[in-house]
Amino acid sequence: MLHFPLFEKTGQTLLEGQRLFSTRIAERANGIAKADVLELGCGNGEQALWLASTQAPRSYHGIDLYPPHVEHARQEAGRRGIDATFAVDDSQKLTSVADESADVVLCIESAHHYPDKPAFLRQVRRALRPGGRFAIADFTTRGGNPSKFERLIDTYCWTGLQWQEELADAGLVVDFSEDMSEGLQRGLEEVRGTLAKSGGLRTWVAGFLGDRLVAYYLSDLKGDRSYHLFTGFRE
Ligand SMILES: C[S@@+](CC[C@H](N)C(=O)[O-])C[C@H]1O[C@@H](n2cnc3c(N)ncnc32)[C@H](O)[C@@H]1O
Repeated sequence: MLHFPLFEKTGQTLLEGQRLFSTRIAERANGIAKADVLELGCGNGEQALWLASTQAPRSYHGIDLYPPHVEHARQEAGRRGIDATFAVDDSQKLTSVADESADVVLCIESAHHYPDKPAFLRQVRRALRPGGRFAIADFTTRGGNPSKFERLIDTYCWTGLQWQEELADAGLVVDFSEDMSEGLQRGLEEVRGTLAKSGGLRTWVAGFLGDRLVAYYLSDLKGDRSYHLFTGFRE
């Protein structure tokens, strides 16, 4: 999975924290059992495969801009015998997705990559059936200017208030929002203790680089960045 872990218990692994987060998101979307689910920016599909295999949706379709991620997701779905489909697509265009084809749209930690977020929200609305639900979780800014690193890797964050306004403008009604920064900080702190304590040189190097990355994310979350979840429905 390619998103932050949520804290539940001391000694939890990165994957446990990430699965907890994914399950929480599905719950906040009022559950995805028997639903046609569309996940935008699904990454390597690990979250999709986890939710598709544990939450009994009617169908689960993930899209991502990066073809190797989609290839990985397809291969793993086949290898593990999980009923989920994947396509290369852009969340701001969604050319592969029919109008009103989803009961639930999920987008986790991907929207900060989208320069045209209003176009993305229009696509969320178009893909949802009337009454269908969405859950969007992502980095938000507390209002400062983007850091050098963010400009370097092309990320675009809104404030929580901007999200609320833009979702309303797109015809999406928010019925729950949560600042998840604290739970995710605790999840990241817990992970730092578990990264590659044993194994060979490659494992140690991966653990060291992972630790640096986690340290960066932690400083970011304690600084100008926060992390929000918005859920709601299409009128
Ligand atoms: C941090 S990963 C999150 C992946 C997944 N949602 C998860 O939680 O495991 C962000 C993903 O967004 C994808 N992405 C970036 N821009 C995109 C776009 N315009 N349309 C679709 N996916 C995009 C990236 O390729 C990457 O896989």
